[in-house]
Amino acid sequence: MNEKQHAIVIAGGGSTYTAGIVMMLLENRDRLPLRKLKLYDNDAARQEVIAKAIAIELQEKAPEVEFEYTTDPQVAFTDVDFCFAHIRSGGYKMRELDEKIPLKHHVVGQETCGPGGIAYGMRSIGDIIELIDYMEQYSPECWMLNYSNPASIVAEACRQLRPDSKILNICDMPVGTQRRMSQIIGLSPKDLEVRYFGMNHFGWWTSVKDKAGHEYLPQIRDYVAEHGYLTQIEVDIQHMDASWQATHKKAQDLLAVDPHRLPNTYLKYYLYPDYVVEHSDPNYTRANEVEDGREKRVFSAARKIIDAKTSKVGEFAIDSHASFIVDLACAIAYNTHERMLMIVENNGAIANIDPDIMVEVPCIVGNNGPEPLTQGKIPLFQRGMIMEQAMVEKLVVQAWVNHSYQSLWQALTLSKTVPSAEVAKAVLDDLIAANQEYWPELKHDEHEVH
Ligand code: NAD
Ligand code: G6P
Ligand code: MN
Repeated sequence: MNEKQHAIVIAGGGSTYTAGIVMMLLENRDRLPLRKLKLYDNDAARQEVIAKAIAIELQEKAPEVEFEYTTDPQVAFTDVDFCFAHIRSGGYKMRELDEKIPLKHHVVGQETCGPGGIAYGMRSIGDIIELIDYMEQYSPECWMLNYSNPASIVAEACRQLRPDSKILNICDMPVGTQRRMSQIIGLSPKDLEVRYFGMNHFGWWTSVKDKAGHEYLPQIRDYVAEHGYLTQIEVDIQHMDASWQATHKKAQDLLAVDPHRLPNTYLKYYLYPDYVVEHSDPNYTRANEVEDGREKRVFSAARKIIDAKTSKVGEFAIDSHASFIVDLACAIAYNTHERMLMIVENNGAIANIDPDIMVEVPCIVGNNGPEPLTQGKIPLFQRGMIMEQAMVEKLVVQAWVNHSYQSLWQALTLSKTVPSAEVAKAVLDDLIAANQEYWPELKHDEHEVH
């Protein structure tokens, strides 16, 4: 049992993931003791449903944990050790447009990849910077564990705009896929020690060993070549819907492009964008699927608990997403030196790409944050893809900082998901119209050709 008791604020209290994370925190109090839990959101009504149900859960399972929920940043960020941040700037309403607008132009419409991810990035940057500033004002020692998307663009913005802030940008996709890998080879996820390189939602595994040093990559590769990452028994409750199953299966075609490394599932948007567009329904995208699925499930479970005044009537599920965050908080709080994939500034971790790119690589995490493990030189194909994608994301941050239409047009044009500058412009102009409330107003360069 660890001694120090922690105070945690969850930013994005009304998120579909909040209840699962709270359940995880409750189960792990021997590892990470809790004295106080707060929820913070800018949508009071949405947050209240989740918060009232959590209050009942806490009353029954951990009455000693102080609990409050608020829309006031000072109340939220005062006296906290960790901020777990998972906000969605613009909400599902805007995610739907991020997906549907590009699709209208026969371009990939996705939450974090291609033009949709860029649009979401332009909304998220300012909101995350605002959270960091609140945290530093009210609890300067606090760490932010941020998984608000698009994590890669957010991380690049933080690198440039808040380089000294205690923010760690993280993702659960590799954790989820490693769970699948461990099932394929009959081990548990914690037995695996991996080597991995790339950026967020854009990487490859080069080694999957057990603690004794046995290499399983060839065995996993043979399996993925036939089934993708689909497993016999479901091991990852988060990525279960039919569209996710198709994504796990598609990994077999990603592997075919480079059979020596195991791909992150998100590479499908870059390697097979035409296939993705053909298999998308422009009138019913993932945002709609989540609204009809996870969001309904979570909010109806919450309402059931509130109406019955007891948590016995319904259960909030604990997901893989949540366990990763508790592991990370423990690594920082207790200097565990756990090996985890993190998004960090390259600085040579990948030897033959620029030092100032935010990469995702294995790190040793302790009380000063992550220390990256070097992954050596990478092959031409991946190096080309990573450099291109990194410049796309830098152009997005540049566009946000300078309010530059030109930079954002270049970002879309450079994205591997977009076929031409002309299509990029058409998509961009529609995205600007849809995002007026959220993006800085973009200025045109004097010499731009119309
Ligand atoms: P959601 O819309 O259900 O929840 C987000 C909450 O954030 C909402 O209640 C919203 O009102 C609130 N919010 C929005 N802007 C805010 C702001 N500026 N300040 C405070 N609160 C704000 O979304 P969700 O599906 O639960 O996802 C939440 C976030 O977690 C998304 O960014 C999603 O992409 C991210 N996510 C990331 C990973 C990862 O691997 N990094 C995994 C899962 C989810
Ligand atoms: C994975 C990714 C997250 C992403 C999520 C989307 O977990 O790592 O970054 O937000 O999938 O899931 P959804 O169910 O909302 O489409
Ligand atoms: Mn992710």
